[in-house]
Amino acid sequence: MINRRVGIIGAGAVGATTAYSLSMMGICKEIILFDIVEGVAKGKAIDIGQSTHYSPRPTIVRAAKTPADVENCDIVIITAGVPRKGDMTREDLLLINAKIIKSVVADIITYSPNAIIICVSNPLDVMTYVIHKMTGWRPNRIMGLSGALDGSRMAYQIYQKLGYGAGQTGALVIGDHGQNMIPLPQKVQVGDVPTTDLLTDEEFVEIIERTKNGGAEIVSHLGTSGYYGPARAIAHMVEAILNDSKIIVSSSVMLNGEYGYKDVTVGVPVILGQNGVEQIIQMTLNTKTREKFKASVESIREGIDILEENGFFK
Ligand code: NAI
Ligand code: 2OP
Repeated sequence: MINRRVGIIGAGAVGATTAYSLSMMGICKEIILFDIVEGVAKGKAIDIGQSTHYSPRPTIVRAAKTPADVENCDIVIITAGVPRKGDMTREDLLLINAKIIKSVVADIITYSPNAIIICVSNPLDVMTYVIHKMTGWRPNRIMGLSGALDGSRMAYQIYQKLGYGAGQTGALVIGDHGQNMIPLPQKVQVGDVPTTDLLTDEEFVEIIERTKNGGAEIVSHLGTSGYYGPARAIAHMVEAILNDSKIIVSSSVMLNGEYGYKDVTVGVPVILGQNGVEQIIQMTLNTKTREKFKASVESIREGIDILEENGFFK
């Protein structure tokens, strides 16, 4: 890509840490941060910009004063949203964040009409669906952060059990980025050795549970959700797109018949390259995994239905 310009909407914990990760990797020419809270994007852009003095390649990091300043980006990452508070129901949160996404997307359509969008805001799969509906863009240009993060959490859990194979472990998680996610540790390898030759059934059960609760575990210690893992996973996706690496990463994407579903966004392995989602990989799933995938899709559809019932897509 020529411009190698990345926009980040929402300069909170994940947005700013993504900017930092990308600038330390030195893979973008320019990163533009925007946040609705005045001063946040500016302060973080200055701080991160100064840190780039020590990065392998220069990156310009600047703050946008208005959404119009996030212009002509190759990739726009959406991390804007509000967390669930007080007596807010899941439905309230869904509607609030969907409205934020709607307004953010309207600006992206106007100011970065050729961008690829990576959605990070939660509930991830439903927000990714909203972006598809709001843009009407070709589905390859929109994806959500799920398996890149959840897979890194699964690889971490495998390493915790084995104590070797760091950096050599596969990371395959499909389904929603929520309680019905489907970590598949039995399908990956450490080095070239299948995990089924290295781990017991009990250990697989524990790895799956701890991966599913990976986000919640961090919240239980920190009081807020993680951002280093998410940011590095986003940067991994950005790198694949900017460098046209054509690597396989699970992401939440719009299905059109793959895995037997249509018009729903859910995590599956895809090939990421300069066109975004270049191909959806269709794995053979056994009966048990197909049932779990169905439950996962249904949980995402419940969220989409709430938006439909509230007239959100009209
Ligand atoms: P945060 O609260 O630190 O940052 C969110 C930022 O969005 C705030 O600075 C806020 O001012 C800004 N914002 C709100 N409305 C905006 C708008 N209309 N335009 C521009 N900026 C706006 O939250 P954090 O920890 O950075 O998380 C961001 C989102 O990402 C949350 O929805 C979180 O649940 C989600 N998340 C998703 C992950 C995934 O794997 N998909 C992983 C980690 C977080
Ligand atoms: C996470 O998995 C909150 O989705 C976020 O950490």
